[in-house]
Amino acid sequence: MNSKQLDVIVIGAGAAGLFCAAEAGKRGRTVAVLDHAKRIGGKILMSGGGRCNFTNMYASHENFLSDNKHFCKSALSRYTQWDFIGLVAEYGIAYHEKTLGQLFCDDSAKDILNMLLGECQKAGAKVTSQCEILSIEKLDKGFKLDTNQGQYQCESLVIATGGLSMPKLGASPFGYKVAEQFGLKVKPTRAGLVPFTLHEQDKDVLAELSGISLDARATCNDTSFNESILFTHRGLSGPAVLQISSFWLPGQPVEFDLFPHGDLHAELQKALQQQPDILLSTALSAHYAKRYVQTVLPYLGLDNKPLKQYQGKQLQQIADAFHQWQLKPNGTEGYRTAEVTLGGVDTDELSSKTMMAKNVEGLYFIGEVMDVTGWLGGFNFQWAWSSGWVAGQVV
Ligand code: FDA
Repeated sequence: MNSKQLDVIVIGAGAAGLFCAAEAGKRGRTVAVLDHAKRIGGKILMSGGGRCNFTNMYASHENFLSDNKHFCKSALSRYTQWDFIGLVAEYGIAYHEKTLGQLFCDDSAKDILNMLLGECQKAGAKVTSQCEILSIEKLDKGFKLDTNQGQYQCESLVIATGGLSMPKLGASPFGYKVAEQFGLKVKPTRAGLVPFTLHEQDKDVLAELSGISLDARATCNDTSFNESILFTHRGLSGPAVLQISSFWLPGQPVEFDLFPHGDLHAELQKALQQQPDILLSTALSAHYAKRYVQTVLPYLGLDNKPLKQYQGKQLQQIADAFHQWQLKPNGTEGYRTAEVTLGGVDTDELSSKTMMAKNVEGLYFIGEVMDVTGWLGGFNFQWAWSSGWVAGQVV
């Protein structure tokens, strides 16, 4: 059988794969990008609620989780958020900062996908969809691939197949299996940036709050995020919850400060001096939605009496119940709704300068497939661009 001979094959036409392919093509390398999905770039199109939070102005290595915290530094400093912002500007794509340095397209995530496909086309990198990879074999020099669209041979093979999040968008464990086939260690994976599910006793009550959003500080394992939380009919979501979910381990409690920008005890004392006869629920309704107060007081085991009837330290204890709400999630919604996958190909196996496997000449891993996971806010795409770019310079 005749096989197609290329310099570089990238498996996975997502953010990292497309970006890497375009960079390699610009260097005059012949490149093919193979993806099993019917539709290229499904995740990019869905990202950021359809507007793609394509990077973060404040991206640094501190916004990433990995067993080796230093691994991402080199790539992030060689291809920065400002480099990507420059490219977006070159394509005339309008964008804005939503909050906390998060940059979104004004119009549509399609603009980013079209830009990536445009870059691939300019660089002569051919993108093929619905291509199933049946086997990979290492040759003396390079690799041989059997696919449902024929045989390929290449000098450099780049694995850019992402993590396990959102299988309906094409996610698969392919990258981990390739790593294992070549003897590379893979760190255990779990869903990250994902809503919490609740135990029945919490869910029964808190489901009534569905749709209510509050400012909060979520804390777990010495890490805190000050953003909003959202009660849903399934559990707890919102940016602060998604962020802390990446730091949470099953069985652990998460602490929420539900009055993160002030001192609730001082507010209750003030209300007591000004209107001693009002009910606790009325005083709290100055700061929270009424529906929230009515549901949460009995849930926290608090009486609803006129303020003047609370003795000694009782107002302090009430304030503490809001400042230090401890919740033990039942679990998470898992890969079905998770934005990312924590864990993956062990970075100790890879060069941080090139993303090549230290012990397998010509085999590269880029993007989410490896054990580098960003916070919520454009950091995961920045990792796809940075890791894809550095590999693109050498493959
Ligand atoms: P990615 O998942 O993008 O691409 C992997 C590709 O490999 C896919 O095209 C897949 O079809 C293909 N593939 C998988 N298995 C294969 C196989 N066996 N054979 C061939 N091809 C295979 N991040 C961010 O920074 N800002 C944001 O706004 C968002 N928003 C967001 C929304 C939603 C709903 C999700 C699920 C995720 C996000 N993210 C995000 C995270 C971000 O999308 C993610 O981290 C990057 O897309 C990872 O890029 P990769 O290229 O590594 O994988």
